[in-house]
Amino acid sequence: MSIDWLELEKTARAWTYEAAGLIKDSLSNPIHIEAKSNPDDLVTEVDRAIESFFYHKIQETFPEHHFLGEEGVAEELDSLNGTVWIIDPIDGTMNFVHQKYNFSISVAVYHDGKGMIGLVYDVMNDELFHAIRGRGAYLNSDELVPVKERPLHESIIGLNAKWLVQEKNPYRNPLRALVRDVRSIRSYGSAALEIAYVAADRLDGYISVNLSPWDYAAGIVLLEEVGCKASTFRGEHLDYLKKSTVIVGKPRLHKEMVSSYVGEEL
Ligand code: IPD
Ligand code: CA
Ligand code: CA
Repeated sequence: MSIDWLELEKTARAWTYEAAGLIKDSLSNPIHIEAKSNPDDLVTEVDRAIESFFYHKIQETFPEHHFLGEEGVAEELDSLNGTVWIIDPIDGTMNFVHQKYNFSISVAVYHDGKGMIGLVYDVMNDELFHAIRGRGAYLNSDELVPVKERPLHESIIGLNAKWLVQEKNPYRNPLRALVRDVRSIRSYGSAALEIAYVAADRLDGYISVNLSPWDYAAGIVLLEEVGCKASTFRGEHLDYLKKSTVIVGKPRLHKEMVSSYVGEEL
């Protein structure tokens, strides 16, 4: 049976707005915080509740669809065959906890490994970045135009500055060289939002040493619609079933960042 992607996007969008309402309501209550892999890797009961919210909606409405989410509400997936929802219920949990601001909901629908729908919603600023494959990308009702290139030395790159000082990061030196050569860097604390910002021409590129599929799956659907590129640091296709390095940007800049900076570890 063929899928009506427009209808599916409407449904995904309605659920995203509903989830955002639940997140906003939660802000008036005390938030219970736990650490996951390290003391700075935070999760709250709101992250889990929002992932469950999406999981149950999808199960009830589309029982044949699969689910890949950060908080482990569903069983692990070992392939992207069929229709797969890739969801980060709150991207930027540290911001959610500390700032109650600058976090997003990231919802992607992939079909046989291809990104079909991408939604990144900045809950507190009411900015929905959305795209359906082949139909352009939008910020709320405004269409995002194909991006225009800037030279590297005039570019602003999204990057978490922690990567520059962590001894165990093998890309520390290439990233320092990149930071030296670009116009400036920004760090917003939500990878999904930063990738959406590249699609919206607020950033020229975004780079991270370690991201998970739910951090970038939706953003990449947006990027493809405006002609931007995404890959691992070695310029390879991103794998949606495991963590990896991620570099996104306008095509010329992306190529230059890979070939002259992070393509080879130093
Ligand atoms: C994190 C954010 C952050 C990025 C981290 C991610 P989370 O996601 O996107 O900006 O630097 O690598 O893990 O844990 O807030 O969903
Ligand atoms: Ca995330
Ligand atoms: Ca998250």
